[in-house]
Amino acid sequence: MKQVKDIQIRETNTNDFDDIMAIEKQAFGYDKEAQLAADLLADKTAEPIVSLLAFYQGEAVGHILFTRTYFDKQEAQPMMHILAPLAVKPEYQRQGIGGMLIEAGIEKLREKASTLVFVLGHADYYPKYGFLPDAARLGYPAPYPIAEEYSDYWMVQAIDPKGFEIEKGKIRCCDELNKPEHWRDDESDR
Ligand SMILES: CC(C)(COP(=O)(O)OP(=O)(O)OC[C@H]1O[C@@H](n2cnc3c(N)ncnc32)[C@H](O)[C@@H]1OP(=O)(O)O)[C@@H](O)C(=O)NCCC(=O)NCCS
Repeated sequence: MKQVKDIQIRETNTNDFDDIMAIEKQAFGYDKEAQLAADLLADKTAEPIVSLLAFYQGEAVGHILFTRTYFDKQEAQPMMHILAPLAVKPEYQRQGIGGMLIEAGIEKLREKASTLVFVLGHADYYPKYGFLPDAARLGYPAPYPIAEEYSDYWMVQAIDPKGFEIEKGKIRCCDELNKPEHWRDDESDR
């Protein structure tokens, strides 16, 4: 593991595509999340996105992507997002880079007047950064049913202090992330 300090974080542009793919592939150890990131970056229904890279000494070492989410079956939509994917190169993990990307990303979401941010992920990781487990219990069922034993993995955080007062309802993601294969609990297609 490399000891790092002075991490730089900035928004991505089209020239960063290869760096993003490399980080996603190395962090996850398979290509599925890299393909998802590529698909999301090209999805118009995902906009406005927040896509950030973390750099250490000029090397891109971490990436985070937030895409727009919606309430299912509603006309007027508040601005909401979902975090997926988050990736840090293996040799740079466990040094706070993931946390820095989450915090910087939420600040960017606040600037875009986003009200709520969702994530489906590790229930002992994301609560460190303000996410509340079991978003369905709080009134926001996931796009597809989540097994009871994993209900804590579907999480939400209010970006706007009034975020939880605006609306409740089932969540729909952008077209690419709303595909059922991203919500299945199996690893056979990796
Ligand atoms: C998850 C990930 C992004 C975290 O990035 P990171 O820079 O290592 O995270 P941070 O340094 O900010 O936080 C580290 C802390 O989070 C916890 N943590 C990190 N990865 C975790 C995991 N997979 N499960 C549970 N806790 C985890 C640890 O408790 C760690 O604290 P510790 O060092 O005191 O043990 C990174 O491990 C990664 O890219 N993993 C592979 C891809 C992945 O699983 N992405 C998330 C999908 S939901």
